[in-house]
Amino acid sequence: MKYSKQVSLQTHNSFSVHSLCPVMFFPENEEDLCQLTKVLPKSFYILGEGSNTLFVGGESPVIIKPNFRGIKITETLENYIVQVGCSENWHQLVCFCIERGINGLENLALIPGSVGAAPVQNIGAYGVELADFCTSVKWFDFATDKLQLINAEECKFAYRESIFKHSLKNTGIITEVELTFSKSWQPILTYPGLNKLPANVSTQEVMQKVIGLRTSKLPDPEHKPNAGSFFKNPVVDLNFFKLLSDKFGEMPHYPQKNGNIKLAAGWLIDQAGLKGIRQGGVGVHDKQALVLVNFESKKGQDIVNLAAYVQQKVFEKFNIKLRPEVRIVLSEGEVNFQTNDLITSGCS
Ligand code: EPU
Repeated sequence: MKYSKQVSLQTHNSFSVHSLCPVMFFPENEEDLCQLTKVLPKSFYILGEGSNTLFVGGESPVIIKPNFRGIKITETLENYIVQVGCSENWHQLVCFCIERGINGLENLALIPGSVGAAPVQNIGAYGVELADFCTSVKWFDFATDKLQLINAEECKFAYRESIFKHSLKNTGIITEVELTFSKSWQPILTYPGLNKLPANVSTQEVMQKVIGLRTSKLPDPEHKPNAGSFFKNPVVDLNFFKLLSDKFGEMPHYPQKNGNIKLAAGWLIDQAGLKGIRQGGVGVHDKQALVLVNFESKKGQDIVNLAAYVQQKVFEKFNIKLRPEVRIVLSEGEVNFQTNDLITSGCS
């Protein structure tokens, strides 16, 4: 199996922060994975393209960066079934499908990252999420050294959640993702920005619109290093939502199937007066307050400090504790992020 020692992670994370990885393994087949289980240390982190990971501290744990490639399409009377290696790039997969007339992923265009990372946080945008298409995941289990299929129900997909963040965390690796697309495609145009498109719109047009919306609001990590939304949108119960709207008036909100209400974290941060603020070389994006940008810092800790400040200010104003979407990795592995535990300097 291929591996490298003492790898600088700066080009392996979209926040572009410095950290040194003692060993990075690059398994690319089942044999490599069996070999890997024999040498796995207690703490390690599985990395895709590093677009949702924040490394904090000078050293990272051992990293596994799988390299499973390939896209296979099969067809039934009603569906296209697409099996994709975990290391394929997500946006390239979206383009690949749409060029071949396989519709469905257009609302998920331009999401950074690898295909294997998509089920972990059940990526979603513009009214669509991975769970709408994912029918199974191929999983290599470290305990048995065997590949197995995990079906969609077992994946326990929820808003930016799955079993891979919980009971299956660090117990194996996703090597392939299976997506199923109905041949009778209907565009999903409910999200503001898409809802003015005509009903007979083409997939290409929807995709171009999504790309336009994303590029107008979200900073390009190549020029302004970031990891997309830093926090999840918080979900509150109806009573609390009523109290909030009595106090703060109209606010973006999305009723959930169970009666709870999802709020827009970007709006809360914006209303707390934090949009565009900068400190320690990092800042809150001036067009979408949910995104934290690394302008010129080398340290993940600077981003954590800013995140903690944002969390504190939003809590003071709205009594809501924002939870990060980005995964925080220290030398001892991923931490269950409570920004307050990680602050090393104050903010003003
Ligand atoms: N808003 C503000 N100020 C801001 C940002 C947002 O007032 O600075 C308001 C907007 O005007 C809108 C509402 O908040 O009324 C929601 O904003 P937006 O439509 O931009 O979406 P979001 O909830 O902030 C989520 C996802 C994004 C995804 C978009 C579009 C999460 C955590 N984020 O953002 O996903 O692209 O919806 O579907 O769910 C990501 O996960 O990295 C990501 C970018």
